[in-house]
Amino acid sequence: QMSMASHRVPIAPQSVDAPLTQHATFLVLAVRSPAEPQTRQAIRSTLAGMSGRTKTVAMRDLGGRFSCVVGIGSDLWDHLFSSSAEVKKPAELRPFRPIRGGKHAAPATRGDLLFHIRAERRDLCFEFERQLLDSLGRGADSVVEVVDETVGFRYFDARDLLGFVDGTANPLGAALPASVLVAASDISSGSNDPCSDPDYVAASTAVGGSYVVVQKYVHDMARWNALNTEQQESVIGRTKLTNEELDDVTETTQSKAHKTLATIVDEQTGEEHDILRDNMPFGSPGTGELGTYFIGYSRRLWVVEKMLERMFVGVPPGMHDRILDYSMPLTGTTFFAPSASFLANLS
Ligand code: HEM
Repeated sequence: QMSMASHRVPIAPQSVDAPLTQHATFLVLAVRSPAEPQTRQAIRSTLAGMSGRTKTVAMRDLGGRFSCVVGIGSDLWDHLFSSSAEVKKPAELRPFRPIRGGKHAAPATRGDLLFHIRAERRDLCFEFERQLLDSLGRGADSVVEVVDETVGFRYFDARDLLGFVDGTANPLGAALPASVLVAASDISSGSNDPCSDPDYVAASTAVGGSYVVVQKYVHDMARWNALNTEQQESVIGRTKLTNEELDDVTETTQSKAHKTLATIVDEQTGEEHDILRDNMPFGSPGTGELGTYFIGYSRRLWVVEKMLERMFVGVPPGMHDRILDYSMPLTGTTFFAPSASFLANLS
């Protein structure tokens, strides 16, 4: 049973704000029979054990900055918690909405659980994933199926494989939780004393959590490398060598740069809504498949959805993000990463 006293103590988020690391593994799992009570029990105990499992690996090298964030997909959320009056679904949690632009499409793909595993050492990521999957059973006996496992690495000065520094506009300091974590004030309550209002207490399930969207993109490097540096810079909206932002003014006559399409300004308040990205290059020169694993954390799912719509449909419609002429998404999945306090209470 959930202990709802938890909303009165400070809510600890998961390590969403962990620093960008040298290594990461993005593990997406599908749960095999989510309606079966035994399966639900196994998943709940995996979620409740996240903090312990993380410590087991993190303690083996304190300089390794090991962390793991777990996200839960919309369908699995319903299976795990729909019978509980005390756990309310995060207001915006829904499956990834596929987008069909004039030229490029963003597909929705399967996934019930996301593990975003980060460390300075590859072996720490490996060890955590091994212990996690062993605990869920192997082969036909496993309660889960691996849908995608992408091993990411940091490339020179935090560049993506297109050669640009990636992650610069991320929020920092106090702006980070303000952009990324659902706040108590996001949960509306009609009552004067919200803490005694059962609807409010249930709604507070989401507080301290974050919506997470992932997409695995593969790049057409030959095509990209056929552009000169100036053309590449106008696609991204920053200079390649020195990472300086280009002026939006030059864009009025041409199609907009990626950084401009990915900027969301609130119509009411005029403020920009940032998201937190920890994209990672991945790939193998041997097979020729390489790309960027996009991961975005946000306090508001609609912000990420709007970024995607602006990129794929274009502004105005038809003027899509030219990064997509060189990058194709193979996956697209949405999750909610609840607070660590919420997870701990599941035991
Ligand atoms: C900015 C690369 C996909 C959202 C950037 C920048 C680069 C980049 C190099 C400029 C530096 C920076 O601020 O980080 C890529 C690549 C992608 C990709 C290689 C995949 C092929 C996406 C997607 C989204 C997104 C799918 C959102 C749904 C953003 C945002 C910014 C940004 C919000 C910062 C804009 C600003 O305020 O300046 N990206 N990106 N990106 N990207 Fe992407």
